[in-house]
Amino acid sequence: RTAPPQELLEIAIDVARDAAATAHRMRAEGVSVAATKSTVTDVVTAADRAVERQVLDALRRVRPEDAVLGEEYGAGETGPAAGGVRWIIDPIDGTVNYLYGLPYCAVSLAAEVDGRVVAGVVRNVATGEEWTATAGGGAWRDGERLGCSTETDLGQALVATGFGYDPGRRAHQARVVAELIPHVRDIRRMGAAALDLCLAAEGRVDAYYEKGLAAWDLAAGGLVATEAGLRVTGLDGRPAGPDLVIAAPPALFEPLHTRLAALDASGGP
Ligand code: IPD
Repeated sequence: RTAPPQELLEIAIDVARDAAATAHRMRAEGVSVAATKSTVTDVVTAADRAVERQVLDALRRVRPEDAVLGEEYGAGETGPAAGGVRWIIDPIDGTVNYLYGLPYCAVSLAAEVDGRVVAGVVRNVATGEEWTATAGGGAWRDGERLGCSTETDLGQALVATGFGYDPGRRAHQARVVAELIPHVRDIRRMGAAALDLCLAAEGRVDAYYEKGLAAWDLAAGGLVATEAGLRVTGLDGRPAGPDLVIAAPPALFEPLHTRLAALDASGGP
């Protein structure tokens, strides 16, 4: 059973607000590393798990038949529903910032119908800023409609990026940054992909790229960026995905794409 994007967004906003409140409260009570995942730097806190569990329970109450994909619990208990809705959950994007008390971490929740993200919300756990979008309905922050940067010169562009957790991948990503930085205004590595995409949606950075994003890092923020007018794709017209995500305003897309392709930004481990 599908529903209009606006209806799914309203559910997502309610669930993400409560989830962010839990993450905020648990942060105030003190957090520590509960486990590591792919590498020793890929950490999980008790809050990542508690928040995802809360989101799963809340979604099950209002839309029990929907499928879910979450960062910590994978496909959860509900299987994929053909033609139905799938919720994509990042309980805390920017877990390392969360661990250190840096105010750049977010709950990210998106609704996908037939493999296409139709609604998404990203809520900064520390500041309460909230970005939303529906497919075709524009991108919004706290009631204000967003548009991306109008910069046309890559040399004047502030470009955000991020690094994965695999040491070989990080080394490759650092080499790409070293080669790119002379050709842009500057680089930012702020530590939460969903928020990076939302900042690009309102021109607080001009563009963003990263290799190695998971579906939950990309889903909601990618829709917000797209609806704000950025082109969000992979290399050579491929869809944005784990190989590479480039999110750039139309005028910056080709120059950034050309640089990233020449630097083999989607290559390496
Ligand atoms: C990570 C953050 C980071 C990005 C990584 C992600 P997590 O997500 O978004 O900025 O560079 O690729 O894995 O682990 O904090 O949820």
